[in-house]
Amino acid sequence: MPRHFLNILDLSPLDAQTVLKRAKALKEGKVRTKLLDGKTVILIFEKASTRTRVSFEVAVRQLGGQTVFLTPNESQLGRNEPLKDTARVLSRYADAMVVRTFGQEKLETLVEWGSIPVVNALTDQHHPCQVMSDVLTMFERTPGLPGLKVGWIGDGNNMAQSWIEAAQRFGFELTLACPAGYTPDADIVAAAKAAGARVTLTEDPAVAAKDADYLNTDVWASMGQEAEQLRREAAFEGYQLDDRLMGLAKPGCKVMHCLPAHRGEEITDEVFEHNADMIFDEAENRLHMQKAILEWVFEAL
Ligand code: CP
Ligand code: NVA
Repeated sequence: MPRHFLNILDLSPLDAQTVLKRAKALKEGKVRTKLLDGKTVILIFEKASTRTRVSFEVAVRQLGGQTVFLTPNESQLGRNEPLKDTARVLSRYADAMVVRTFGQEKLETLVEWGSIPVVNALTDQHHPCQVMSDVLTMFERTPGLPGLKVGWIGDGNNMAQSWIEAAQRFGFELTLACPAGYTPDADIVAAAKAAGARVTLTEDPAVAAKDADYLNTDVWASMGQEAEQLRREAAFEGYQLDDRLMGLAKPGCKVMHCLPAHRGEEITDEVFEHNADMIFDEAENRLHMQKAILEWVFEAL
């Protein structure tokens, strides 16, 4: 059975630490590997991407492998060829699939019918590679992760749900402030709490911001929700990460954003630019973290 990385909980607590430390060592140039020499990774992207696509393509090449990039427009995926057939075909050409799509169940179909590792490059439910990179970005600055208080302000979306799993795996405290109707999946929250994660939900952004070491936000309308933009702007009024909320956080609190950012919506330009070092480190760390994740799925870690 190949290893798959569909969400953060696919990593055992021990493996999560191993992957985190390995990504840091790769970034620092302390270790080098050509693990993917002779291997091909297929990138299937059903949604737009800058960071995830480029960082995976560069990561695979730096590890000695090659990539094939596929979108529905230029493949039979867009003409309704069943995913279970696509999975079986691609498994005969390539060594892994990195997939950005809508429902998480599509990844599960690829896992069920394919015979090579599948990596989640973002679904409507999770964005695990991004959040692992974000955890690395905190870890570089503040290695004692369990002592941290992290706040999430905004939509209870794919990023928020992966942050909940990260809180469970890495032990930090996480408070999410989301408006009613835009909260994370109740099952994901309940499972994390049952496993002992320190996760709190609130509707009040001030509660999430209070004494935070790190504050996080993301767009109010994710990819695929463009038609809801105006309705969401109204629902998220008061959830903008601005100087007022930053004033409640711990002095020195850093802001995180997975990008792309919508300045003037979920975050002010001032708060964004004041935290640009953190935010662009998160983007850089995609490259290093993805190498470690690829090493993990290929069972080299
Ligand atoms: N953060 C992130 O996943 O960016 P892209 O959509 O550009 O890949
Ligand atoms: N929540 C955003 C993340 C983009 C990287 C989206 O899904 O569009």
